[in-house]
Amino acid sequence: NKYTRVDKETCISCGACEAAAPDIFNYDDQGLAFSIIDGNKGIKPIPDELLMDLEDAYDGCPTESILVSDHPFDELIQSEN
Ligand code: F3S
Repeated sequence: NKYTRVDKETCISCGACEAAAPDIFNYDDQGLAFSIIDGNKGIKPIPDELLMDLEDAYDGCPTESILVSDHPFDELIQSEN
């Protein structure tokens, strides 16, 4: 499974992710991208039919703000502690 979230610290609202993967990414009220899959937590697996879109978004973000992992991001945080 793949998980994703946006690093809002580095997102510059370029819009490429939402264009590539409109079923995964949208913008918050500040114009920063986030994952609509799970409120940008990165804990819900991305549906198979969206994985190509996810890869396009990942490749297309100019600031590498699209974070993608094989593991839920809450697990990652725990294992880094
Ligand atoms: Fe932000 Fe990158 Fe998307 S800069 S709007 S996360 S393509």
